[in-house]
Amino acid sequence: MIQTQTVYEQIKQTLANEPKTWLITGVAGFIGSNLLETLLLLNQKVVGLDNFATGFQHNLDEVQSLVSAQQWQGFTFIEGDIRNLADCQAACIGIDYVLHQAALGSVPRSIADPINTNETNISGFLNMLTAARDAKVASFTYAASSSTYGDHPALPKVEDAIGKPLSPYAVTKYVNELYADVFARTYDFNTIGLRYFNIFGKRQTPDGAYAAVIPKWTAAMIAGDAVYINGDGDTSRDFNFIENAVQANILSATATDEAKNEVYNVAVGGRTTLNTLFTALHENLALNGVNYTQEAVYRDFRAGDVRHSQADISKIQNALGYAPQFDIVQGIEKAMPWYVKFLG
Ligand SMILES: NC(=O)c1ccc[n+]([C@@H]2O[C@H](COP(=O)([O-])OP(=O)(O)OC[C@H]3O[C@@H](n4cnc5c(N)ncnc54)[C@H](O)[C@@H]3O)[C@@H](O)[C@H]2O)c1
Repeated sequence: MIQTQTVYEQIKQTLANEPKTWLITGVAGFIGSNLLETLLLLNQKVVGLDNFATGFQHNLDEVQSLVSAQQWQGFTFIEGDIRNLADCQAACIGIDYVLHQAALGSVPRSIADPINTNETNISGFLNMLTAARDAKVASFTYAASSSTYGDHPALPKVEDAIGKPLSPYAVTKYVNELYADVFARTYDFNTIGLRYFNIFGKRQTPDGAYAAVIPKWTAAMIAGDAVYINGDGDTSRDFNFIENAVQANILSATATDEAKNEVYNVAVGGRTTLNTLFTALHENLALNGVNYTQEAVYRDFRAGDVRHSQADISKIQNALGYAPQFDIVQGIEKAMPWYVKFLG
């Protein structure tokens, strides 16, 4: 642990001494804006691409308020669409490292609207892959997903053992991996896919029908509204705090060639049920001055949801020196004051 944390610290030091130019697609979103914040604080140059489909100008404004004026000058924003190859090509000019985050997330959104999810997540992905290959960027890291494990029953999830996808969203994220692998074989363009497991933290939106569980429940608790649990509450996830995911991206971007053309789980390696999460959230809110006394309301299981999810993270630990610095409890402690301030 001590040794691997040092790998991340060393890489950040090297980047601070020798700044690079990064492209973050989906920069106005949750994960993208957190990547932006960390990279600007390290005095990197960053190009951001977003069409505000699910991202927000206020996320960018918040990052601006957290960095110096000089650091903010290192950021160039392109309002554009990954479904448009020309936008991807323009964004890739002069880039060292690509962190491709733009996509339409959410399993239920993809069930409601598979065509739009497909166009952004597959055609848009292929545009970005092609533009980045042609621009000869030094590395290309993309947001893959734990949904790719589909109906495979094994726990914890090991990268090589995947099942059948359970939703259109899962199909798109798996197809990303297939394209990435084919680009390695046919064009010698080697990428890294990060299979995120339920990332949470500041700037993850609580709004909308497709909000993730932690911001959605936290917002409901702050508002005094009912919290709905889909199913019996024993459904479990490997919730991972955003700063661990940022670490994984920075390690991936700067990885050696031997570590490329691979996919890696990005998680903590823990498993928390929805019932436990419900308790953890309202107990933590109480520490932040918000008392929520209602019981959870149970309703039907949600279509397309995986029942249990927990990652084996040994592959990314060994290959990239990844060492999660926050478990779910520490992550909730760090995230909650932001939600109370943002929603209060
Ligand atoms: N948050 C998680 O737990 C999680 C888990 C697994 C995978 N992922 C993946 O991580 C990535 C980032 O997710 P997030 O949670 O930050 O979601 P998000 O919705 O906050 O961010 C996605 C961003 O992509 C942008 N975008 C969407 N379509 C676009 C298009 N056609 N052109 C340009 N920009 C576009 C959105 O406007 C948004 O800013 C996504 O690829 C998602 O599938 C996230």
